[in-house]
Amino acid sequence: MNLQFSTWPEIEAYLQRSRCIVVPIGSTEQHGPTGMIGTDALCPEIVAAGMAQQRELLIAPTLSIGMAQHHLAFAGTISLRPSTLIRVVVDVVESLAGHGFEHIFFVNGHGGNIATVQAAFSEVWAGASFSGRGSAVKLQLHNWFQGQRVAKLSRELFGDGEGSHATPSEISLVLSVYAEAARDVALDPDIPPTAPIRDARDFRHQHPDGRMGARSNLASAKYGRRLREAAVADALAALKRFVSL
Ligand code: NI
Repeated sequence: MNLQFSTWPEIEAYLQRSRCIVVPIGSTEQHGPTGMIGTDALCPEIVAAGMAQQRELLIAPTLSIGMAQHHLAFAGTISLRPSTLIRVVVDVVESLAGHGFEHIFFVNGHGGNIATVQAAFSEVWAGASFSGRGSAVKLQLHNWFQGQRVAKLSRELFGDGEGSHATPSEISLVLSVYAEAARDVALDPDIPPTAPIRDARDFRHQHPDGRMGARSNLASAKYGRRLREAAVADALAALKRFVSL
């Protein structure tokens, strides 16, 4: 069940059956010469859609713009500052909590969002603590690319070529649904460098084509279908644990 395609009476009725909602969160940022700029938003959206095929779940609109300041030296990247993303996540959580949602499960597609989303969760808890009213809302961040099944399969399929940005795993996952998005572009060097992340100019200097340690050209729709299955299983297992706590 998708929030955007629902009416308010349908959401009221859903809340009688469940207090759980899944929120895909990603980023709009360069993914090397072959990965689409939407990769990090499309991946969690694909995983969330797969989850909703297997059990009754409400899926919120994807938060497609994240904390990607280090990619801003590449054309097309759009970023929020950490402080802005914190405000966005807090407002989304408080909107949903106001309707009675109690379990809000974020499926995240971008490593650069992790620290900021966790800080946003702390803001929500701090608000509840300082008001003295407490909060019924429970929050979980699930990074699809770090799930147990996905990590194992990525190692098996791509080994060291997985890297950490514009990875063959994330590009494969997108190709599993959008096969027409495949780019036939030669990449040089085969395995690009990996360096600490600082500001955007430094990032482009350290990673000239935008990839971090990733052999992006190993990606395929066929691998993507296996990764999608693993990612959906990881996310559903994490959700099950989350709602039982
Ligand atoms: Ni990515």
